[in-house]
Amino acid sequence: MCGIVGYTGINQVAQPILKGLKKLEYRGYDSSGIYINNGSSDILVKATGGVDDLRDVIEKQKKDLTGTAGIAHTRWATHGGVNVDNAHPHMSEDGRFYLVHNGVIENFQELKEQYLQDVNFHSETDSEVAVQLIDKFVKDGFSTFDSIRMMISKLDGESAYSFLIMDRKEPDLIFVAKNKSPMLVGLSDEGNVVASDAIGVLDITHDFIELHDGEIAVVDKNKVDLFDKNGKQIQRESFHVDIDASDTDKGIYPYYMLKEIDEQAIVARNLSEYYFDNNDQIQNIDPNIIKAMNDADRFYIIAAGTSWHAGLVGKRFFEQWANKPVEVFISSEFAFDQPKLSEKPFFIFLTQSGETADSREALIKIKEQGYPTLTLSNVMNSTLTREADFALPLMAGPEIAVASTKAYTAQIIAQSILAHAIGNSKMNIREELANIAVYMQSIIDSKEIFQKIANDALKNQRSAFYIGRGLDADVSYEAALKLKEISYIQTEGFAAGELKHGTISLIENKTPVFAFITQSKTAGLVRGNISETAARGAKTIIISSEKNAKSGDAYVLPQIPEIFMALLSVIPAQLIAYYATIDRGLNVDRPRNLAKSVTVQ
Ligand code: AGP
Repeated sequence: MCGIVGYTGINQVAQPILKGLKKLEYRGYDSSGIYINNGSSDILVKATGGVDDLRDVIEKQKKDLTGTAGIAHTRWATHGGVNVDNAHPHMSEDGRFYLVHNGVIENFQELKEQYLQDVNFHSETDSEVAVQLIDKFVKDGFSTFDSIRMMISKLDGESAYSFLIMDRKEPDLIFVAKNKSPMLVGLSDEGNVVASDAIGVLDITHDFIELHDGEIAVVDKNKVDLFDKNGKQIQRESFHVDIDASDTDKGIYPYYMLKEIDEQAIVARNLSEYYFDNNDQIQNIDPNIIKAMNDADRFYIIAAGTSWHAGLVGKRFFEQWANKPVEVFISSEFAFDQPKLSEKPFFIFLTQSGETADSREALIKIKEQGYPTLTLSNVMNSTLTREADFALPLMAGPEIAVASTKAYTAQIIAQSILAHAIGNSKMNIREELANIAVYMQSIIDSKEIFQKIANDALKNQRSAFYIGRGLDADVSYEAALKLKEISYIQTEGFAAGELKHGTISLIENKTPVFAFITQSKTAGLVRGNISETAARGAKTIIISSEKNAKSGDAYVLPQIPEIFMALLSVIPAQLIAYYATIDRGLNVDRPRNLAKSVTVQ
């Protein structure tokens, strides 16, 4: 999950490339680099840190980035530590070829030993092996294009890659190769761009050609030649991306995460408007989806991270309103440890990015078995939306912050609408969502309450717990992930009843324990469980619903149908995580070791 941008045009490209790279920084920000081919001399600049650090180095080294073709990369390290040598672009030994890579070359060590024994490597990365192999095959007498194809043919079949390659001797061309990692070619009158995510280059174009697995593109400033995995030239229609470039800006917000938390009420309304007509009837859901789901005897929800947490909540809508048994699986587990399936399974993939490699691996295996698949994603034209039988949009707008927030609530809402469409919720969902959006906004507008809770409960703390039962346990898992992934406070989300079976031994004086109490049938039990932690010195913070509130609760959520409560209870958790991170002076949008789209397994 790295950010990749290339541009070959009639104007100077360095600044548009760096601007695009900055927008893709959420995909990885350990280190970054740019190569500009200006015919006479080449400019290769690399730096640890993000794009701003790269700009500082360019400034300090007084590099002249004049040129009308170039490639750039922000890295999330897979092989090799975070340092300048391991940053991309990588250069061939003789300085003729330059390459950036997103993905993993599984058999890079074997290739080094078999073909590149006499090459002096600059880095410890798997990616550098690719550019040195190209150089070797060109020296053996093959063309650059054929050498790229030969390099690809040597990669292990499991290897995921998006490569951009430049050849000093063909200064206007960018060679693009793609397998499993996302890659788009953008078309404009002033040149053509290549990016791992359209939002990096929306200032330049909204029209793209997507590359499919195994394909190679040769991109020039005024044409794009596309070749299939057999080297046969093919044609492909471009598609238009409707995202407004301004949607990808933070605007007045200090961080994308806060902007995206704030947008959740709007997203709820967007989803309602998209999936319901003015007579409260379902629209924009392919009847074939409804039929395929009604024909199934069991649903399997497959997702990773926050999306998996959303699946735990979505399960309840399908079971209660559509009377369908549902199993929810972590993608990386299901892909390699498939359970015994029902006779007529239906698979639902939840994925904000539509590019998560773990989820894609599971999709490939499920499709090989011929089962029906549906992807709910925030990025249409992504790999998982393209490769599933059906796809439905989350309508959340670009989610840039690594910590997923509006995509989580959007996935829950989308699943509720789908369950309503195939079953009988006995509710007017459009009306419910309208009320919920109002309540979501009222909670979002109470930010300072959660800022105080975060400060009081979490300052100087190294660990924390979120607990609940049933739906409140599902939200506890998501609440814990939010807090730990950006504040680095070791946080566990726990089924409240399970705590006393061992983990309660971790409770010490002032250990923060947050409890969600929004489900009436277990409210009393959870209050008992939270008291057990208080008896051992915990600092307890209760987030309850009106119906289950008691004096002393830290925050009382407005009352809505209990099955929807996750849409309200998660917002305090998102804001508590945000403010705890701010208190620690950390970068909310760019937590260490993480990236937004996890395109490696
Ligand atoms: C959530 O805050 C994380 N960024 C991460 O767990 C994410 O939800 C997970 O990687 C799945 O991503 P996806 O929804 O794009 O498939």
